[in-house]
Amino acid sequence: MGSEKSVPRNWFPASIHGLKILCLAAGGGQQAPILAAAGADVTVMDISKKQLEQDEKVARRECLNLKVVQGDMADLSHFKKESFDIVVHPVSNLFIENPRPVWQEIAGVLKQRGVLIAGFTNPLLWIFDDEQEKKGNLDVRHPIPSSTLDHLGGEALEEFLKREETIEFAHTLEDQIQGQIDAGFAVTGFYEDDFGGERMIDKYIKTFAATRAVKMDQMGIFPK
Ligand SMILES: C[S@@+](CC[C@H](N)C(=O)[O-])C[C@H]1O[C@@H](n2cnc3c(N)ncnc32)[C@H](O)[C@@H]1O
Repeated sequence: MGSEKSVPRNWFPASIHGLKILCLAAGGGQQAPILAAAGADVTVMDISKKQLEQDEKVARRECLNLKVVQGDMADLSHFKKESFDIVVHPVSNLFIENPRPVWQEIAGVLKQRGVLIAGFTNPLLWIFDDEQEKKGNLDVRHPIPSSTLDHLGGEALEEFLKREETIEFAHTLEDQIQGQIDAGFAVTGFYEDDFGGERMIDKYIKTFAATRAVKMDQMGIFPK
């Protein structure tokens, strides 16, 4: 099993030629080169130089124009306000403690009526004990929200900190969905898929989610 669904074609306009797209926390040579090949004016931002080098490598190989910016998804002050038509934000906010400021930052750099396409995990992915899951048992252990640091204790935590491994954060659906709405977005599309990591839970429920949201000037027909 793996993530298999494509982002629906109608989440993008018929042509993206010339549109300004920010691929946020999206290094690795996947999303940004494809969008650049379709004619968009693409900037990819990621905290990892190594991930961005993958985008540069694909861009060189395919003779594509791509801008790369190394930075933190929680601070988009590098970019001009209301300068992007589309932000593509693949599953990556599991690496930050609080996704809400990121939704706000994205709203700041998108034009009015600009589109945000975001992927994130369903929190159910994180509630089970890892060791028990490897043995084939789904043992509910962890509350949401929480992080790797809460899930590990004693020696395991010490080892984890010594290895300087990446901390993963499990967010509530409220922070993921209402967080976008609170930042001024109206959600206009949603789908679920297998997360794709051969997780036992994939047999029972899909734990990858994607939303399409539009930055609104007001949230309905009623004046503010
Ligand atoms: C799972 S990848 C998603 C993008 C990738 N192209 C893909 O399709 O799998 C998560 C990305 O988030 C990046 N990342 C983690 N923390 C970040 C942060 N605070 N700011 C920006 N990028 C971050 C990682 O370097 C990684 O490239």
